[in-house]
Amino acid sequence: MGRMSHTPHSLSDTVYFMGEFIRQFRLTGSLFPTSARAAALMASPLEGREQPLRVLELGPGTGSVTSAVLARMREGDTLDICEINPRMVEVLQRRMEGLPGYQAHRARMRILVCGAQELPLGTPYDVIVCSLPFGNFDLPLVEAIFSRLRQLSHAETRMTWFEYPELKRLRLLLGGHGAPLAAVTAYLGQQGAEPIGRVYGNLPPLQAFLLKPLKGQPSAVQAA
Ligand SMILES: C[S@@+](CC[C@H](N)C(=O)[O-])C[C@H]1O[C@@H](n2cnc3c(N)ncnc32)[C@H](O)[C@@H]1O
Repeated sequence: MGRMSHTPHSLSDTVYFMGEFIRQFRLTGSLFPTSARAAALMASPLEGREQPLRVLELGPGTGSVTSAVLARMREGDTLDICEINPRMVEVLQRRMEGLPGYQAHRARMRILVCGAQELPLGTPYDVIVCSLPFGNFDLPLVEAIFSRLRQLSHAETRMTWFEYPELKRLRLLLGGHGAPLAAVTAYLGQQGAEPIGRVYGNLPPLQAFLLKPLKGQPSAVQAA
């Protein structure tokens, strides 16, 4: 495509991200920032459209996926970024200053420092790009997040998210966090999302999903 869609992390930002993984394992969910290929998949719903989009990014961390979102934004698009960890927000704000597209779009961007489940209600989004580590959450939190996202969606809203399949299988096998992870896996499996790409070069390897539309999908795990 020939356009800059990803800005590599500096060594210090990568080390910072790893530090947050150690401090906040449950919230951060990954030891390394998302790769360029994975970030491009996550931001792909912003491509090939005619109209301006209202975009929501969840869990930007230090901004790997934000970089890919910014590279695909056009005049008139808006971007709300929701991040629960204020320390991540500090790094993100500093890093965004140097990202291509930031200066052009900053007036139409907001950072919301809160949990996705607490996002303020308002005009629905067209695209939701979600990097939240669902596999580290309990089912009630995942349900609360999806419930809030449906309130923030319309009939055509599309959402991307990802998981680490090998890591998940290993954790299910070892059983440590088995009960919540199995319930969350069942819940996510019921949402009707389609796989849009597997990135083996990501650390750990990642599977991206697209949910389209978000509004009409089931909101609770059905009884077996
Ligand atoms: C896997 S990391 C994101 C990685 C990021 N895309 C990158 O490559 O740098 C998950 C992020 O979600 C944030 N997070 C976790 N729970 C959250 C919640 N309930 N609402 C909003 N952000 C949350 C974490 O603080 C962390 O920054």
